Formats: sequence, C-alpha cells, structure tokens
Amino acid sequence: MQAPDPFLQREILGGEFRILDKIGTGGMGSVYRASQPAMSRTVAIKILHPQLALRKDLISRFRREARAMSQLTHPNTVKVFMYGQLEGDNSLYIVMEHLEGQNLSRLVKREGPLSVPRAIAILVQVCGALQEAHEKGIVHRDLKPENIFLCRNGGLQDFPKVLDFGLAKITETEMRPGSIQLTQEGMVFGTPEFMSPEQAQGKILDHRSDIYSLAIILYEALTTKLPFRAQTPMDYLQKHVLEPPIPLDSRVPNLVFPPGLGQVIERALAKQREARFGSALEFAEALRPYAELYSQRLPSQPPSHRASAPTAPPALSQQPAPQPQRRFLELALVAAVFLLMGVALTAVALRYVIR
Ligand SMILES: Nc1ncnc2c1ncn2[C@@H]1O[C@H](COP(=O)(O)OP(=O)(O)OP(=O)(O)O)[C@@H](O)[C@H]1O
Ligand SMILES: [Mg+2]
Repeated sequence: MQAPDPFLQREILGGEFRILDKIGTGGMGSVYRASQPAMSRTVAIKILHPQLALRKDLISRFRREARAMSQLTHPNTVKVFMYGQLEGDNSLYIVMEHLEGQNLSRLVKREGPLSVPRAIAILVQVCGALQEAHEKGIVHRDLKPENIFLCRNGGLQDFPKVLDFGLAKITETEMRPGSIQLTQEGMVFGTPEFMSPEQAQGKILDHRSDIYSLAIILYEALTTKLPFRAQTPMDYLQKHVLEPPIPLDSRVPNLVFPPGLGQVIERALAKQREARFGSALEFAEALRPYAELYSQRLPSQPPSHRASAPTAPPALSQQPAPQPQRRFLELALVAAVFLLMGVALTAVALRYVIR
C-alpha cells in the first residue's frame, strides 16, 4: 500500500495555507490545491521533491529561477505569488494562481486533433508569453503540452497559461556538449519528445530551443502524433538531432491542412537554430494567417489514432471543407465533359439524319 501523502490537509507557512488535495505529480515534485484564508482564495502550490533541497547549488538556482519567474507579467503566464522553503523538511515551494481547466495534453487525448484555428489561437497566445520571458532572458526549457494549461476561469475558454518557466534549469546537470549519452543520464529534466536538437546534445540553450519545442507541441495538437517515429527516449533524442521531421501533410492520411502551414512548422523545426524563426513573435506572425483557414477530416475515414477517444466532437470553428468542395468541382467537370460529348454526338447524329 502507498504511504499517505504527508502534505494533505496540512497547514504550512505558519498556517497561511492549508493543503486541500493533490492536483498531480511531475518529474520534480507535486502540485497541490490549497486555501489561503487571509486572502479568501484558492492557490496552487508546487512542492519540489525534498531531496532537491539537500543541495545548496540547487537551492540557489531555484531562488534565481523562481525570482525571474515571479517577474513575468504576461496574461498567458501563470502568476507566481511567492516561493521559498517550507518549515520542517526545507522542501522548495512555489505558490501560484490556481487554474481551472485542463492541460493541453489532456485536451488532445480527450478530443483528438484540434482544428487549425483552435490550435493556432492557443499557440499564438503561448508565443506571447514566451516573447516576454525571452526578452527578460528566460528560456522555458521544458515546454510540453502538460505545461500549457487551458483555463476556463471566469467563463474563459481555451485561455492558455504557461507553467513552469525556467524550472527545468534547476535540476539541469552539467553536460559535455555533443554527448547524447550524458544527456540521457541527466534525464531528470526536459522531456525527450519535445526537446530541441541542441538540448538533446547538451548544448547551451537560447530562446530558439523553445520555438522548436513549441512547433512539436503544435504538430501534436494538430495530428495527435509526434513528427518522429521513435520507441524510446534515446530514439527521440537521436531523431531530433539527425532525422528530418515527417511532413505535417503526410502524418495522418485523412487530415488535410492549409497549404503552407507544414512549411511554417518545418522552419520552426529546423535542426540549425539559425534557420528557425528569430523570435516567438515572428513564429506567431507566421502562424496567425492560418487561424482563419481550416483542416478537415474526411467523414468516411475516421482517423485510426482516435480509436480510443470516447467521443469525437467536431473540431471547433470549422468552415466549409476543402475536400468536398474539390470533389464537387471534379464532378462538375466530369458532368460538363459528358454534356459536351452528348452535344457533339447529337450534332454528328443529326448531320447523318439530315444527310
Ligand atoms: N497553477 C496550477 N493550477 C492548476 N493545475 C496546475 C497548476 N500548475 C500545475 N498544474 C497541473 O498539475 C499537474 C502536475 O504538474 P507538474 O508540473 O508537477 O507536472 P508535469 O507538468 O507533468 O511535469 P514537470 O515536472 O516536468 O513540469 C499537471 O497536470 C499540471 O497541469
Ligand atoms: Mg509542469
């Protein structure tokens, strides 16, 4: 039997917060819902594994990153209220606004591929949050669908908030550049599926690493697939470095995307960071026009990857489908050819009759 969580129902920080329940656990710790009676509000508290508080270097890195995080004010970045170390076991904690909704990973698992306008509307806002962080010298380093939370606080829908800015840096181990092996050994941070080639190689990162991860997130939201076929974390790392991504347009046979969107994603997924978009804003500007266009699933062929999805609500904001339209034109063309042939045959027949 699992030991009960020591934090549940506990009062912390001199009774200022009462931990109510656990929201989830990730690589670095757990996130709890807690009440703060003095402020009459509910907050979320991320408490990192107590072992992390045993290392002085990690504590100072945590303070540095948490301070930077709490200076971010973009509406699409989660608000950090306070941070520090708990009494007792000295665990590192971050108190932030409590979000209601679900993360992008859950949304895609439950609903299947998002429509192009819906996915892009989310991604463009995430780019805004990243732009502010990048301008302040903060690279996220662990962008993945679990760290993009879609709020529905106050009646909002699909309002993304980016979580865990810079937190991955805390546990990052020193790595020898170019060594994938060492990168895998230090795999307490980052997520192989969403890592940039330079991150997979343990190189020094800049904002363009986040742009690569964001492009993988968009690709997955649109297809529920990743741009590489890999079995193990090591496989993913190697493919990020060495293999070209599977083109968006051919990843799922019955999904059609607006022409050009695949190329925008491909540019963000360039192996060389110099070839990617220069900023998150630039990436957002390249994506924005596609928010007005649409993707369409052919009704006759339900995508195989959605077999496990319980219900398949139609993608939002879809407009008239391109495929049936094209098919209509083809039919009209065939009908016109038959009509002309008919007219020609009648004319020939009439000429014979007249003769
Ligand atoms: N402020 C918040 N409000 C509501 N839910 C949150 C909040 N912060 C995190 N969560 C949710 O809590 C869960 C656990 O988050 P956590 O960050 O510990 O794990 P993770 O994102 O899966 O992995 P990682 O440790 O790499 O970030 C996730 O489902 C996340 O979406
Ligand atoms: Mg997280």
